[in-house]
Amino acid sequence: VKTIRVRTKPPYAVAIGEDALSQLPAAIDRLRPSKVFVITSPRVRDFWGKELGRHVPANWIEVADGEQHKTLPTLERITRELVKQGADRKSVVVAFGGGVIGDMAGFAAATYMRGIPVVQVPTTLLAQVDAAIGGKTGVNLPEGKNLVGAFHQPRAVIADTRVLETLPPREFRAGLFEVIKSGAIADARLFSTLERERDKVLARDMGVLESVIAAAVQVKARIVAADEHEGDLRRILNFGHTVGHALEAESNYRQFLHGEAVAWGMIAAAEIGVNSGVMRAEDAERLIDLIIEYGPLPAVSAKPRRILMLIQSDKKTMRGVPHFVLTPKIGAAKVVSGIASPVVRAAVEGICQR
Ligand SMILES: NC(=O)c1ccc[n+]([C@@H]2O[C@H](COP(=O)([O-])OP(=O)(O)OC[C@H]3O[C@@H](n4cnc5c(N)ncnc54)[C@H](O)[C@@H]3O)[C@@H](O)[C@H]2O)c1
Ligand SMILES: [Zn+2]
Repeated sequence: VKTIRVRTKPPYAVAIGEDALSQLPAAIDRLRPSKVFVITSPRVRDFWGKELGRHVPANWIEVADGEQHKTLPTLERITRELVKQGADRKSVVVAFGGGVIGDMAGFAAATYMRGIPVVQVPTTLLAQVDAAIGGKTGVNLPEGKNLVGAFHQPRAVIADTRVLETLPPREFRAGLFEVIKSGAIADARLFSTLERERDKVLARDMGVLESVIAAAVQVKARIVAADEHEGDLRRILNFGHTVGHALEAESNYRQFLHGEAVAWGMIAAAEIGVNSGVMRAEDAERLIDLIIEYGPLPAVSAKPRRILMLIQSDKKTMRGVPHFVLTPKIGAAKVVSGIASPVVRAAVEGICQR
């Protein structure tokens, strides 16, 4: 098991590896809780509830975990269930599930009695490398995603790689695209490992997985610690997300998993990088090849014009000028504004034709 420190205030540890769950009791004991509440979904509990239960006696709260349930009504159910089951200021929440559970349970913990500690136990690859780290919590409104939330850093994160065994292949690959993102923006070695060890990664070889997850967590940990409340630095984590969000919104979040949309976004960003003179063609080719190797991706069926309109209205757009995170080379990123619109258009047309 590898441990990575996230140097926020207060700092916390992320344990990663086969049997990381065995570190959960110590992580919880340190908080001296009156009671422990595991918030999870029926699916995650079916697969892994017994295993978690072996490590900590707890009260359980189950809620559905689709994106459509990441709402204020579900948050109300969670918090009222906390009251009903006797949670007080000294209670601890364990968020046990994918990013949807992590965001909701984290937000419940951030607000219940003005804030109680949360320990994140992410069970999807996306949640292990991204959602569980960094302290962003929240829910969606009918008007848009993640519009209500709070920063609430977890007191510990336990990423047990064994739980990934039951993840559907498509979910697993979607998480890998965020791992590719981490390599592309900040860790050239991770990027090469993903190139070299593709077969083992896709076969979920525990040893290789532990090291690539740890590397991706390290990238996020470093960036989050330097920029706890999402100033400029954190924005490089949004590599591929400007076009990615547009694709998700265009298809009403139905056609692509988040990681898949981001993968298309990274392909577009590579094209933009080359055509704006920021990125060398060889590096762009490496990035695009790697993404294709971890595919397949669902085809982009939207009209380029629709996607371009949504890019214009993205929240990262400032005064109508879209900002793009670009990678000058593998392992480095910067935010670039003022990209000429024909360059953006060509990149969007490019992914629509692939
Ligand atoms: N807070 C952040 O910084 C942050 C960052 C990235 C994403 N997110 C959020 O994360 C959410 C997406 O998270 P996600 O991709 O984990 O989706 P998810 O939580 O919806 O989980 C995906 C599916 O996998 C199932 N599942 C979970 N663990 C499993 C396991 N071990 N075995 C089998 N099935 C399992 C779930 O039941 C669900 O059906 C989005 O709401 C997004 O906004 C938050
Ligand atoms: Zn993302």
